[in-house]
Amino acid sequence: MLVINNYKEMQKYSFELIAQKQKIGFVPTMGFLHEGHGSLIRKIREISDVVVLSIFVNPSQFAPGEDYERYPRNFERDKQIAEDNGCDIIFHPDPINMYPIGYGTEVKLKKLIKTFEGSSRPTHFDGVATVVAKLFNIVMPTYAIFGQKDYQQTLVVRQLAKDLNFPCEIIIAPTYREHDGLAMSSRNVYLSPDERLSASILFHSLEKARAAIMGGERNRKIINAIMHNSLRSLQGIRIDYASSANAESLEEPDIFLSGDKVVLLIAVYIGKTRLIDNLVVNVPAISTTLEDRFVEGV
Ligand code: PAJ
Repeated sequence: MLVINNYKEMQKYSFELIAQKQKIGFVPTMGFLHEGHGSLIRKIREISDVVVLSIFVNPSQFAPGEDYERYPRNFERDKQIAEDNGCDIIFHPDPINMYPIGYGTEVKLKKLIKTFEGSSRPTHFDGVATVVAKLFNIVMPTYAIFGQKDYQQTLVVRQLAKDLNFPCEIIIAPTYREHDGLAMSSRNVYLSPDERLSASILFHSLEKARAAIMGGERNRKIINAIMHNSLRSLQGIRIDYASSANAESLEEPDIFLSGDKVVLLIAVYIGKTRLIDNLVVNVPAISTTLEDRFVEGV
């Protein structure tokens, strides 16, 4: 496995691969790899000739006071995990190589960023879009893979690739979970053993809301209340949001309809650690008379 630290070298390497008609599969990460990242490498490996994984803790997507400095880092361990999962090249630039003195450009999103992660972290997605655009220009991938774990990020990246005409297919991979349902995350290491045990409440709360929708619940406020009530059963939890929305537009109608694709989104603080999770649910068909009653709000 090759490690490249400089964007110019990475670009040169990618140009050579493209000249040889090699399909480049790309896994952008901030490192401190876990099985979730491993699953992305394995999935893209199946369709690519060469797999590039980037490790870059991107300063521009962290707001002042967030965890940029203390974000966990362990390059030697990451190298091993990347190699074990079939990665060919790690692109691991320094911040100064990505954002040199005099740097002055940012990608600004016009939609999908006002709510959920976007309202809690107003500068976050512009930082993500900027670094992903830069990484796409450096790696020039045929495919790039992102995890559903960061649901709103997948919508933002799709929008970015479409609007800025990147010739790259975006692939979304399912969330990889621990045995108790907790979504794997580099930030899970911040949790104390007790907090770690409690953290499965996110997944269980999502599951309760999903069961309600499958059982015929269509009212968004009731669906949200089910998640809130479930989360509140954990003492000391701080709910940032626990909401449902249209899975494509992130709009929040009063009532969901049969056939709608709904995303359930949760962000909470357990102790000092901020955790996010989500589930996508296809609203099942119910009888037309029942549906009319729901629409009329009877
Ligand atoms: P990071 O948090 O390191 O995540 C890298 C990729 O791994 C993202 O696409 C994320 O959704 C995916 N991922 C994380 N946990 C996962 C899990 N449990 N199951 C499946 N996939 C999972 O997301 C970022 O980095 C950054 O914002 C980045 C896109 C690299 C831009 O800086």
